[in-house]
Amino acid sequence: MRAFRLSRFVRLLVGVPVIVGCTERAPTPTVANAERGLALMTAFRDSLPEHSGNALRCVSCHLDNGTRPTAMSWLGTAARYPRYRARPGYEETLARRINECIARSLAGKMLPEDGQEMRDMLAYMETMRASARPAPVDSVKLLGDVAHGEAGYAGQCARCHGANGAGLPALAAPAVWGSESYAIGAGMARQYTLATFVRHNMPFDHADTLTAQEAADIAAYVLTQPRQDHPGKERDWPKGDPPSDVAYATTAAVAAGKPVPPDRPLLPRRVLPDSLISRH
Ligand code: HEC
Ligand code: HEC
Repeated sequence: MRAFRLSRFVRLLVGVPVIVGCTERAPTPTVANAERGLALMTAFRDSLPEHSGNALRCVSCHLDNGTRPTAMSWLGTAARYPRYRARPGYEETLARRINECIARSLAGKMLPEDGQEMRDMLAYMETMRASARPAPVDSVKLLGDVAHGEAGYAGQCARCHGANGAGLPALAAPAVWGSESYAIGAGMARQYTLATFVRHNMPFDHADTLTAQEAADIAAYVLTQPRQDHPGKERDWPKGDPPSDVAYATTAAVAAGKPVPPDRPLLPRRVLPDSLISRH
């Protein structure tokens, strides 16, 4: 893994007042805030056990501390919010977007949006506000063959993520399914999103070696395996416009007569996503 150099962020922050909000409760973030934010995102479960529902950390997916262009990069992210997103169906703040990943990708419980932990994570995002957005990666939008994917997983992934998908902590490779993995409501539980991530970033030590079809097959196989539920998922895409690879039925899509995806095996949710600020 590439080492993270904080000096870059120190250079970015010094002399550049970063405005997140100017109330007394939200002072201008400092380098120390950004450092703490990154520390939380790197050791989420150890730092915030009550908010974590699995063994993942933010940087398990947002690789290289959110700077890898092919892995849902955070370069320029702070400048894109607030923005309308179709999944919740309203204009979302960046704090709320982070909470969505906590509730879904970390299968955890949302943080208070005005709390210190959220402010620190936002401070880290602010360090990349002025960075150019990387060009979008080629999406892998192919149907996957589960049997081929099972063989592909055994050959390309199991040595790090385990034959049972539970991950191998000794190799710092996290779970890709099961109770320590992301919940069904996560973006990564969509086949095209997972296949695109895998195609460009996995195997970790040989990224960019799989064909698009191999990545699609492996993603299809991984997503036949059980993972935690996401209560309230039926309220997603309230305008009835879910992408075609969403793994569960939503109320609005059913009402619009759209096809219902096949059932996926679900595990009970360990940590409820709900919090006072949650709209779900
Ligand atoms: C299981 C993988 C996974 C984990 C873990 C994860 N995320 Fe995400 N994250 C995603 C995916 C997938 C997207 C959607 C990318 C897209 O919209 O194409 C995303 C999007 C985001 C975005 C929006 C980026 C943008 O430019 O709009 C932010 C911010 C974010 N995540 C922050 C976090 C934080 C903070 C954590 C930890 C608390 C986290 N994520 C954990 C997979 C993950
Ligand atoms: C050399 C070991 C290695 C191999 C082989 C490998 N990975 Fe990974 N994988 C990792 C590491 C390390 C991470 C990031 C972990 C971190 O930083 O927390 C990761 C992250 C992931 C993630 C995002 C986090 C999560 O656990 O959901 C997915 C999905 C994933 N790998 C899927 C795959 C697939 C599918 C394959 C086979 C094509 C594969 N990986 C092969 C080591 C590996």
